[in-house]
Amino acid sequence: MIFPEYRPRRMRKNKTLRAMIRETRLSSSQMIYPLFIMPGKGKKEAISSMPGVYRISVDQLKKEARACMDVGINSVILFGLPEKKDAVGSGAYAKNGIVQRAIQELKNQAPEMNVVTDVCLCEYTDHGHCGCLVGHEVDNDATLELLAKTALSHARAGADMVAPSDMMDGRISEIRSTLDENDFHMVPIMSYAVKYASAFYGPFRDAADCAPQFGDRRSYQMDPANSREALREATLDVEEGADILMVKPAVAYLDIISRLRDEFDLPIAAYHVSGEYAMIKAAAGKGWIDGERVMAETLLSIRRAGADILITYFARDMAKLLRERG
Ligand code: PBG
Repeated sequence: MIFPEYRPRRMRKNKTLRAMIRETRLSSSQMIYPLFIMPGKGKKEAISSMPGVYRISVDQLKKEARACMDVGINSVILFGLPEKKDAVGSGAYAKNGIVQRAIQELKNQAPEMNVVTDVCLCEYTDHGHCGCLVGHEVDNDATLELLAKTALSHARAGADMVAPSDMMDGRISEIRSTLDENDFHMVPIMSYAVKYASAFYGPFRDAADCAPQFGDRRSYQMDPANSREALREATLDVEEGADILMVKPAVAYLDIISRLRDEFDLPIAAYHVSGEYAMIKAAAGKGWIDGERVMAETLLSIRRAGADILITYFARDMAKLLRERG
């Protein structure tokens, strides 16, 4: 017998062979790009903790959608910064709210764009929590009705998919039945089924101005230590009618993505969140890592763990790179 008998290096010999046996690929069709919508006209504000990401006004959406579609990104997820906030987050479900106007603008200017909306109250409440309060507690059941109203107002404005991110119990069934009763049975729900109480959301909370004014989100978002509980959360959302299950954040929770992939047959999405993006940008900005390669390797790792869909601030950069390099 010749030593070594089998040589894995044979199949790594050149680019063509490597591409031929590649098990996981990235595709722009599986990426969703987040957009932050702010009031005003002609606005494009840089977000300092997220280089390359901006808050834009509704009138900028046509240009922004074009730029996405030019590189092959055909899905966006919308977050809104309302003109004013109140205790019950009424800006979230206002007929003429910031996200509702953004949906209409996108559907008028770029009808082929797949418009997903984040359904939550935290950007619209003056206390910054994801629901309405009784004392200092978020009132789960009273919040459900407001979330369903929000999702319905998004569907009415023309949203293609809604994505509840609040982590209240029972919200998927409440939203599903409200949509169905109003003839929106064809609008899918992408559930932030497994969302951890994570420090990686820091830059987002600056971007969307939604840091809680007291306490934290640990009484509704999940404890980072738990994985069996993730399966329970996902099971409930499947039973309640979710169409896609999301894990968030992504890289620190690859094991959770992998477990959900094994246990469920629904599409799995992963949110590569603001802090994960910011860390790569910061290190690349200092010249400590190769930003492009780390971006590609990171997104690939999330796909390899089992995610079908990636929500990422890198969507456009990654799509551009895929166009250039294949
Ligand atoms: C709103 C929401 C958050 C994110 C997405 N939707 C913030 C939070 O829960 O505190 C985080 C996204 C990111 O960090 O990129 N509920």
